[in-house]
Amino acid sequence: MSPQAATAEAELEKGITLERHVKEEERKFPQARGVFTTLISQISLAAKIINAEVNKAGLVDILGLTGHTNIQGEEVQKLDTYADEVLRRALDHHGSVAALASEEMDDPYIVSGDYLDDGEYVVVYDPLDGSSNIDVNVSIGSIFSILKRKTTNPEATMEDFLQPGTEQVCAGYVIYGSSTMLVYTAGNSVNGFTLDPSVGEFFLSHPNIKIPPRGKIYSINEGNSGKWDEPVARYIAHLKESDKATGRPYSARYIGSLVADFHRNLLKGGIFLYPGDKANPNGKLRLIYECNPMSFIVEQAGGAASNGRHRIMDIVPGELHQRVPFFVGCKEDVADAERFLSEGLGR
Ligand code: AHG
Ligand code: MN
Ligand code: MN
Repeated sequence: MSPQAATAEAELEKGITLERHVKEEERKFPQARGVFTTLISQISLAAKIINAEVNKAGLVDILGLTGHTNIQGEEVQKLDTYADEVLRRALDHHGSVAALASEEMDDPYIVSGDYLDDGEYVVVYDPLDGSSNIDVNVSIGSIFSILKRKTTNPEATMEDFLQPGTEQVCAGYVIYGSSTMLVYTAGNSVNGFTLDPSVGEFFLSHPNIKIPPRGKIYSINEGNSGKWDEPVARYIAHLKESDKATGRPYSARYIGSLVADFHRNLLKGGIFLYPGDKANPNGKLRLIYECNPMSFIVEQAGGAASNGRHRIMDIVPGELHQRVPFFVGCKEDVADAERFLSEGLGR
């Protein structure tokens, strides 16, 4: 037996693959018909392809800017575009995906009827999260969320996308870091899978992830402190005070890639904040393909996600690229932040 085959056999003995895990999850939903498993495996295929490019980014002409800006007015990196195309190609012929929406596409990509079986899902994604970190070798990621269509007409419409986060059937992210991990929830716990590049498989490495009720880390871009609203400034100052009984001061950890900051806080505990401020009242992060998927995951892990006053997943989106202030992490920390904001708003 070749060394690779021996490794693969040992790995299979050792680990549960992503596909097997999703299939076992799917069996818990009698109405599921295996579509889910193939959908997730297409997303994991795209993750492996993107990962291969990320890992050699310095060696191929995949770094740098495309010279375009996206609908958000942000400069688009070559890797953003590449990851966007890889995910679109992995999903647009699946048969159960009626339409796709992405940070990098102004409007949804409607799959033509020729490629549809039942077309019961739409998928939204941030193909490459943390673009500012791409060419400095800092962890970046991809974020995805799966919704069941609401409309029944042959082709999906915008209405299928403007659903609150509570309607998500699955959400996950891939983090291209010191190892490549895929973390997902289908509403029944959060599980993490680590890619074994020697066999090209994601193996269960972090079963049933739970976030602690309270952390000791806060993640915010302190460079924006001059623009923070007063209640946010007071909350951050509160975290910096010395008080052993409440574990303060917290440690400041900010990578600048949502996926990386979120993943660390999910595993270790903490709160991530991208609040609105005087310049951008709705903050920077997008509701549908950044905040909703992360909110689904953190709630399933026992945490919370808020816009500072309301649960993120209750927000009904008004438009595809809508931004919202984002407070996400340990339940008690998010509750503290909400209290500072509600007091600050004089309610
Ligand atoms: P994207 O690269 O998909 O545009 O996302 C970048 C986001 C998010 O990953 C991160 O938390 C945030 O931008 C960092 O913003 P600042 O650089 O303004 O702190
Ligand atoms: Mn992003
Ligand atoms: Mn992005």
